[in-house]
Amino acid sequence: MKKIYLDNAATSNPKPPSVISAVNNYLQNICSSPGRGGYFLGLEAGRVVFDTRQKLKQLFNAPSEEYVIFTPNVTYALNFALLGVLKPGDHVITTSMEHNSVIRPLRYLEQTRKIALNIIQCNKKGELDPEQIKKAIKPTTKMIIMTHASNVTGGIMPVETLHDLKEYTDAMLVVDAAQTAGVLEIDFKKLDLDFLCFTGHKALYGPPGTGGMVISPRAAKILAPSVHGGTGSRSDVELQPDFMPDKMEAGTPNTAGIAGLNAGLNFILEKGVENIHQHEMQLTRTFVNGLQQIPGISIWGPKDMDKMVSTVSITVEGRDLSELAFSLDADYGIMIRSGLHCSPLGHKTIGTFPEGTLRFSFGYFNTEEEVIYSIEALNQLTAD
Ligand SMILES: Cc1ncc(COP(=O)(O)O)c(C=O)c1O
Repeated sequence: MKKIYLDNAATSNPKPPSVISAVNNYLQNICSSPGRGGYFLGLEAGRVVFDTRQKLKQLFNAPSEEYVIFTPNVTYALNFALLGVLKPGDHVITTSMEHNSVIRPLRYLEQTRKIALNIIQCNKKGELDPEQIKKAIKPTTKMIIMTHASNVTGGIMPVETLHDLKEYTDAMLVVDAAQTAGVLEIDFKKLDLDFLCFTGHKALYGPPGTGGMVISPRAAKILAPSVHGGTGSRSDVELQPDFMPDKMEAGTPNTAGIAGLNAGLNFILEKGVENIHQHEMQLTRTFVNGLQQIPGISIWGPKDMDKMVSTVSITVEGRDLSELAFSLDADYGIMIRSGLHCSPLGHKTIGTFPEGTLRFSFGYFNTEEEVIYSIEALNQLTAD
C-alpha cells in the first residue's frame, strides 16, 4: 500500500534531502559548541548558527541578525514573549482561534500575574473582524497577539491590519506564524511587528526542535529572559547578558537542528515562498472541490482559497472521526490528524467542539494524484 502523509500542519514530512544531509554533515564534521571555543570547529558551528540567522533575517525582513532568536519551537518563542513582557495589571487582546501555545500561557499569566485578557470572538468560519480588536484597546493594553493562520481551519487572520492600531495604542504586536512561515510572504518591518514567532519543523522544512522569533528593537529593550545560563559571552558576569540574542539564548543551542533549518531555508529561498504556496493551494483547491461532491461531508472554515493556507478540516455526518482516521491510515495509507488540534477555543468558535475534526494538510511534496486518491478513499469510506 502506498503511504501518503497529509499532516504537514503538525510537522512537514518528508524533509528535503538537503536538510537530512546538512544534519548528518553537521554531526559528522562540525558538532561542537558554537562561539564557546576559539578552535576551528567551534568557529564553524558559530558560522552555521550565524548564517542561519542571516537567512531568517532575509526571509522575514528582520531588523538585524541580533534580533533573530533561536528557541526549540514556536511554543517556547511565544512563552518567552508572553512571560518576558507581561506584568501584573497588563491587558492583553487575542482571538478565539488561537492554539494552546498562546492560550495556555495567557491563562497561566491570568492566574499568576493577574493580567486581564480579552479574547475576541471570531465568526463561525473562524474569521476575525479587526474592528473588534480596535474596540477592545484600553490604556493598559500591553500586547495584541494573534495567529497568522489557524491550524484548525487554515484561515488566514488579518495581521496586516495590526499596524493601523499603532495610532491607538503602543501595545506590543505579536504574531504566531507557526502555520505560515515558509508559505506566506512575511515582512516583519512592513507589518510593524514586535514579535514574529515561528517554528522550524513545519513549512520551513527544518528538523523538530527548531524555531525562534524575530523581535523589534523596542521589544529587545523590555524583554526579560525566561531562561538564564551560559552563553559563551560575558562569562565574567553572574547575570544574563543584556544584549541580543545572548539575553534570550542561554544554554547550548540545537546546532544540528539549526544546520538542518539552514538547508530548509535554502530550499524555500530557492523554490520561492509564493511558488510553494501556489502549489499547495492548487492541491487544496482540488481537495475542497472533490469533497463538495461527497454527501455528508462538512468543510469547516473559509473554504476560499484566497483566505486560507493548505489546511482543511472536515467532519462526516453520523461518523466517528477517530475511526475514520484509523481506517484512512490502515486501509488506504493516508496519514491525517483527528480530534481537537490543540485549539479548543478554535473548535468552539467554528462549532466542532468537543469531537473536533479530521484535518488534512498539504505540503510541497504532496501531489495532485495523492489528493485525488484521498478524495476517492473518503468517497469509499463514507459510502460504507
Ligand atoms: C498555530 C500554531 N501555533 C503554535 C503551534 C505549536 O508549534 P510547536 O509545537 O512547533 O511549538 C502550532 C503547531 O501545532 C500551531 O499550529
